[in-house]
Order: sequence, then structure tokens, then C-alpha cells
Amino acid sequence: MILALRSGCKASKMRAMIVLGIETSCDETGLALYDSARGLIGQVLHSQIDLHTEFGGVVPELASRDHIRKIVPLARELLQSAALGPEDLNAVAYTAGPGLLGALLVGATFGRTLAWSLGVPAIGVHHMEAHLLAPLLGADAPELPFVALLVSGGHTQLMLVRAIGDYDMLGESRDDAAGEAFDKAAKMLELGYPGGPQIAAAAQQGNPGRFRFPRPMTDRPGLEFSFSGLKTFTLNTIQSHSPLTEQDRADIACAFEEAVVDTLTIKCRRALEQTGATALVMAGGVAANRKLRARLSRDLRARVHYAEPALCTDNGAMIAYAGALRLATGQREGLQIFTRARWPMTDLAPL
Ligand code: KG4
Ligand code: ZN
Repeated sequence: MILALRSGCKASKMRAMIVLGIETSCDETGLALYDSARGLIGQVLHSQIDLHTEFGGVVPELASRDHIRKIVPLARELLQSAALGPEDLNAVAYTAGPGLLGALLVGATFGRTLAWSLGVPAIGVHHMEAHLLAPLLGADAPELPFVALLVSGGHTQLMLVRAIGDYDMLGESRDDAAGEAFDKAAKMLELGYPGGPQIAAAAQQGNPGRFRFPRPMTDRPGLEFSFSGLKTFTLNTIQSHSPLTEQDRADIACAFEEAVVDTLTIKCRRALEQTGATALVMAGGVAANRKLRARLSRDLRARVHYAEPALCTDNGAMIAYAGALRLATGQREGLQIFTRARWPMTDLAPL
């Protein structure tokens, strides 16, 4: 059984189950079906990018309302595409946090209620744990303990993973997350939202030798991050070269991306040295960045694991999979609908 092998559980004792996963923590409505015997059997994703673009970032109230509009039609579409009905579901997993509270409430309320109406178990999933587990979906599991680099729009964290659910924080960002820094730099460069893919695309035309941006907090020991100084440096560079040409934008995007990639690589190398781990799992939206993927694989003396780009950014598949792993160990949610805007991963119970 796929799930049992990857989670290290006793395969023979577990019955196959189909889990519906629901992700609504931010600006993507993602639903997926994970079958513990067959793996991922379907997924649908609706991105709200068009809704938020004119505001240059996610507007929480608009996000919640759009999740409400989309969640039922998407659930129907997903079940239809897999030729299943609601009665075929054995459990429901939904993101319970961290994230935008109003957005989380939509998925949690829908998911918990659906599970109750079907008489099946429900589980509230930690969004960042789901990101962390996404590279394990459909691939070899890394050897434990491993280092995890979690880089998303809201988090930049280095963790030591002793076992699934047993996490030690090695270091995190004191201010902006890496993805947030990409988004803000893109906004300053008028490249659009979300910033990560836009910066990466512009950087391809950039001259890497023209600007050198700082690598924050790499000149001192430790595994903490800070990206707000890089933001200020970007703004100053833009102001001193305005009005910007297309080439200026590309050159600045290139220098910015290079600085973030270099900083993350230096800290990952340190984390591996400090812990003696031989594998690194990189997850979260910024893990879709091609330069970062290539650099970590090239420069670290460790096996580097990451998911395919579509599973790095928010999606329902990672929620279904993380939920399935926890459900398989007997964890279940009560009837109360529970969501948390903030939720340290180190509070989670080991599997
Ligand atoms: O994990 P995610 O989809 O949502 C959160 O949980 O935050 O991450 C979104 C973040 C955004 O900040 C976005 O700009 C960034 O991931 N991102 C990227 C790339 N694709 C998405 N950053 C750099 N390069 C990319 N290719
Ligand atoms: Zn995310």
C-alpha cells in the first residue's frame, strides 16, 4: 500500500481508504482525492490570481467569498472526474491552519460538515506540514532525520524532521518570508502578482553581473533569516535607476533572485552541517523556483527532494495526503470546527 509504505505504518493492518483533501488557506481553492492503495486519483484547483491582481496582493474578504462560490462546484467536478460519489469517500481532510481565518473557515466548515453528513472521520491538517509532505507523494521517502526548508508566502523555516510530526525549529525569518519578499520586489518592479514566477521570468533576460544584492545574515553564524533589508535594497536600486527600462527590470529581478537563492543555499548547507542530516526536503511555493531547485541540487552534499512545481504551490493533493497519513494512525477531529490563523508546526503530535 502506497500510504503505508511511505508513512512507515504496518501495511497489512490498514484498509485502503479514499480521502478528500480540501485547501482554502489563502487564494487557491484546491481539492483532491488520495487513495491509500493507488495514490492520487484526482485533483482540481481554482486560482484566485485574477481576482486579486488589481490590488497587488490577496484581499482576505474577497478570498473567503470566492472560496464559498467555488468549493461545492469543484467538489462535484472532482468526484465526477474520478467517477465517484460522496458515498465512496472514507474520510475528509481540510486545512485547519495556518492561514487567513475567513478563508480557512470555508474549507473547514465544508469539510467537517461533509464528513459528519457521510458518517466518516475528518481531520484538520497543518498547511505547512502538508507542504513538507508533498515531495513524498509519489516518490522515494528521504532518510530520517532530514532537514526541511519551508519557503512559502508566509513562512521561511528550516526544520529538523526526526519523524513525521516530530519537528525541531532550526531557524526562521525574523521578518518577511521568502515568498513575501518575491511578491514585494515584483510589486516594486511593477511585474504583477504573485511575484515569484514574475521575478523568475524577468530574471531570465537579466544580466547577472550588473548588480550584486546583499545575502542577509549570512556573515554571522546561525540559521535565522531576514529579508526586509533586501526589500529596502531593491527599492533603493529602483529609485536610483528610475525610470526603469525593461532591461533594468530584468537585471534587478536577476540580482534579487540570485541573492535569495544564494542566501537559502548557504543556510541549508549550514543546517545540514549542524545536524549531520544527509537529505534535504524543500517545500512551499518558492520551492517551485527553478534556480533554487538547481542550486540546492548542485551545491549541497545531500539528497535534495522537492515536489513537481504544481505540488509546491498550494493544492488539495498535499492536504489529502497529509490527512491520510494522520488518519491512518487513528487521529480524528471532534465535531467542533477548528481553525488557527497561527499554528507552530512544533506543536503537532508525532505520527
Ligand atoms: O505555498 P504557497 O503557494 O502559498 C503559501 O502558503 O503562502 O506560496 C506562495 C508563494 C508566493 O509568495 C509566490 O510568489 C511564491 O510562493 N512562488 C515563487 C515561485 N512560484 C511561487 N517564488 C519564487 N519562484 C517561483 N517560481
Ligand atoms: Zn502554502
